[in-house]
Amino acid sequence: MVAIPTETVYGLAARADLAESVLKIFRAKGRPANDPLIVHIADIGELDGVASEVPPGAKALAEAFWPGPLTLVLPKRPCIPPETTSGLETVAVRMPSHPVARAVIRAAGVPLAAPSANPFGRTSPTCVAHLDPGMMAQVDGYVDGGPCEVGVESTIVGFFGGRPVLLRPGGLALEEIESVVGRVGLPEKKNAKIVAPGQMPSHYAPRTPLRLKGDPEAVEGPEAARLLFGGAAAPGECAGWRNLSPAGDPAEAARNLYRMMRELDAVGARVIVADLLPDEGLGRAVNDRLRRAAAH
Ligand code: TXA
Ligand code: MG
Repeated sequence: MVAIPTETVYGLAARADLAESVLKIFRAKGRPANDPLIVHIADIGELDGVASEVPPGAKALAEAFWPGPLTLVLPKRPCIPPETTSGLETVAVRMPSHPVARAVIRAAGVPLAAPSANPFGRTSPTCVAHLDPGMMAQVDGYVDGGPCEVGVESTIVGFFGGRPVLLRPGGLALEEIESVVGRVGLPEKKNAKIVAPGQMPSHYAPRTPLRLKGDPEAVEGPEAARLLFGGAAAPGECAGWRNLSPAGDPAEAARNLYRMMRELDAVGARVIVADLLPDEGLGRAVNDRLRRAAAH
């Protein structure tokens, strides 16, 4: 079980085909057993080895965007144990673009299960300095691949009855996905727990309460830190501030998000008041993480 770099965030990787190795991941993260893991492959040819069925839309997405920050949820083959998928009949599969991630998967010779390498509910690490020491004490080691280029987790798309459904916004923009498969749906509320498990509202949270600008609890002032988006001007009196992207670039904001949340977490503010981005492109993923952090 090793922490490895991917282009999105660092992952905590172990053999996806062995229940005992997968259970080590759950233990090290303090992750509930009902939150399934993503299985990582090094080559597109390995997809058929883990998924029993690949609808044409899923194949088109894999061909267009792999390797890259896209995860596909498909019916699973028996070689993937129920521990990996939390008992679901589906498996989440991703082929990362980070050359170190692919080299580690190839060296292992089997697909690797890898959730983000953070204790459950905390912000994902985008460089080795952000790996949690308590968690790492239970891990065999890590590989330093430098800072992550994308900065937020992969976009997850499920296929249910052949139709694409967005299960988690992430590092690949929905617009790009829709340019290949057409309209992508959202999970129906009544099925949401089954098709999109593990999407806890309080994920990705710093320890300092985070509130969205405009929320009545988002009181600014000397005891509040500010997480801004766009515009070069410094905010008024505050406990500290960062700008996710002065130029207003959502991809830059995604790359900076977790590091800046950590840095503001360390200034000793009473609250972090965060701007939302326009809800388009990677702005959707950044807003999703900010909203979940604000639910804490
Ligand atoms: O970018 C990423 O995806 C990173 C890097 C390391 O690859 N990994 C990552 O894994 O974000 P994790 O464990 O933090 O998020 C995995 C999420 C689960 O919480 C769940 O929502 C979803 O993937 N998932 C996994 N298997 C699923 C399945 N069979 N059906 C629906 N959702 C699934
Ligand atoms: Mg995670």
